[in-house]
Amino acid sequence: MTVIKAKTKGRFITVEGGEGAGKSSNLAYIQSLLEVAGKQVLFTREPGGTPLGEAIRELLLGHKHTGMADDTELLLMFAARAEHLQQKILPALEQGIWVLCDRFTDASFAYQGAGRGLSREKIANLERFVQGSLRPDLTLLLDLPVETGLQRAGQRSEPDRFESEQRDFFEKVRAGYLQIAAREPDRVKVVDASPALESVQSQIDTIMRHYLESLGE
Ligand code: TMP
Repeated sequence: MTVIKAKTKGRFITVEGGEGAGKSSNLAYIQSLLEVAGKQVLFTREPGGTPLGEAIRELLLGHKHTGMADDTELLLMFAARAEHLQQKILPALEQGIWVLCDRFTDASFAYQGAGRGLSREKIANLERFVQGSLRPDLTLLLDLPVETGLQRAGQRSEPDRFESEQRDFFEKVRAGYLQIAAREPDRVKVVDASPALESVQSQIDTIMRHYLESLGE
């Protein structure tokens, strides 16, 4: 019998963090580490990543629908995610491409769950419905005190609908993320994002090196 070895599937890596955690620079850094390791990488983001997803992102982040119901917000996040998975993420993984995504479902648990107060069960139901058994293989959580993050984010442009929330909301989001990391330490690696960029990158180096070694590819 001839056994045809299936091409290795791509891995799904997500990066999460509160406002001002330095996601953009660190995502670019992670992408470069993966490419140096010989991986083909698709970089994408949520909410967004497809034309429809980006249109939903505008509805979610813009100020036109400021009083949006929490359930609507959650459903729009998952509508964008369903589109993103079907059109972009799953096809890439099937082709052996590594997907590096700026936020994913942990953000729904942190922002809509811990932040807005929606139940874990409600979000977990949508997660099962939209993703089946798909979960990220590795998640880096860029964690830093809310105060520091808000100061950093404040130096940037016009705040979006989430960035306009009060400090108390971001404290809940941070606690929500840390709870996920405590529950799933194998998947979610916490990076202390408060020091200077080189020190953050050195933590990322260690995490990525261990992860790539653990795959033994
Ligand atoms: P950002 O990725 O540019 O930081 O902006 C996306 C915003 O959307 C951010 O404030 C977090 C929020 N968000 C949620 O509330 N739930 C989600 O599921 C996702 C993916 C993002």
